[in-house]
Amino acid sequence: MDNQGSLMSNDMPDDAVTVDGMTARQAIDRIETAGRPRPHDRRLHARGAVYDARFVPTGHVAGLTRATHLTTETEAVIRFSNGSPKIDADDRIKGIRGMAVKFLSDGRAVADLVAANFRVFPSNTPEGFIDLVEAMAAASAADGTLADRAKSKIAAVGKIAGVLAHHPESRAGLKTFIARQPPASFATCRYDGLHAFFLVDAEGHRRAFRYRLVPQLGEIELEAAHASTLTPDFLLGELDARLNAGPVSFTLVFQLAEEGDPTNDPSIAWPEHRPLLPAGYLHVQRRSARNDEWERHVFDPTRVAPGVELSEDPVLRFRPHAYSVSAERRST
Ligand code: HEM
Repeated sequence: MDNQGSLMSNDMPDDAVTVDGMTARQAIDRIETAGRPRPHDRRLHARGAVYDARFVPTGHVAGLTRATHLTTETEAVIRFSNGSPKIDADDRIKGIRGMAVKFLSDGRAVADLVAANFRVFPSNTPEGFIDLVEAMAAASAADGTLADRAKSKIAAVGKIAGVLAHHPESRAGLKTFIARQPPASFATCRYDGLHAFFLVDAEGHRRAFRYRLVPQLGEIELEAAHASTLTPDFLLGELDARLNAGPVSFTLVFQLAEEGDPTNDPSIAWPEHRPLLPAGYLHVQRRSARNDEWERHVFDPTRVAPGVELSEDPVLRFRPHAYSVSAERRST
């Protein structure tokens, strides 16, 4: 596969090491041990599907960036996913849901957005995130007899408490996450990019921002009575059926930072009264005829076009290395 096709936005070595010495390979080894994904699936966000979409800009960010994909009408594909490493994950229970967007020019990727239904990320280091993945996997892995399950659950609660003691920064993210019910539809969920990036204008002025994808239908959570009537993998079928009746749309919103807002820590929210700028609308049209081909690609949060720059956030910087290892393993 060629560069856009493939896998990563540039030739990322996959042996990046965190400050505490964890490599991307070690991170993926730990995710695999905890979550036991199937060999050809993504190591996280295993079940998903890719949809054709169009981006229509509002013009509001034209003065802040020279990125043409944000200022002209652009073709895109979008992958919606359940965050679990398990292909048979249950959409009816709380968990991560993802929305990943690839802006295209002549069918080739120019930039990606990768967002999830967190308001802030529950970790500010890659290790913190992997510790949480392990604790969460323990909590959902409980099977066997009732007594076995009770024992596993108690052990899992202990594990999560241990992670929180070691990573106090995880508390805020987990608290806001636990307070929410699972979404009733991929089309009624808000997805946040969580990391800071910079918009860069033609003169080189930089402005820090975070992005979010806000459903035009509003946020609708799943009610327990309705959940019991649904299949565990209802979300993709629900979206396909909804799209038969017409497109569903999201507003791409940029939250602009002000002096002092951290740009290297995704576990800290910026004040909600910071300016929110609608950059454009993403209209999701239909399941992509090239779904199987796009499934093989990587949606890489560090794939940015001229006019957008990455922050120094260590979690953001680590992600392409981890995604690259996941992609390499699932494609062999
Ligand atoms: C150190 C932190 C993180 C690690 C190690 C990690 C790991 C992974 C891995 C291994 C994959 C599968 C990649 C592939 O095979 O293509 C993945 C996918 C994904 N991750 Fe992360 N992730 C991290 C942080 C985040 C954050 C902060 C977000 C949300 C802003 C996020 C949202 C997603 C989404 C939406 C996907 C699915 C993308 C797709 O549909 O292809 N991840 N992640």
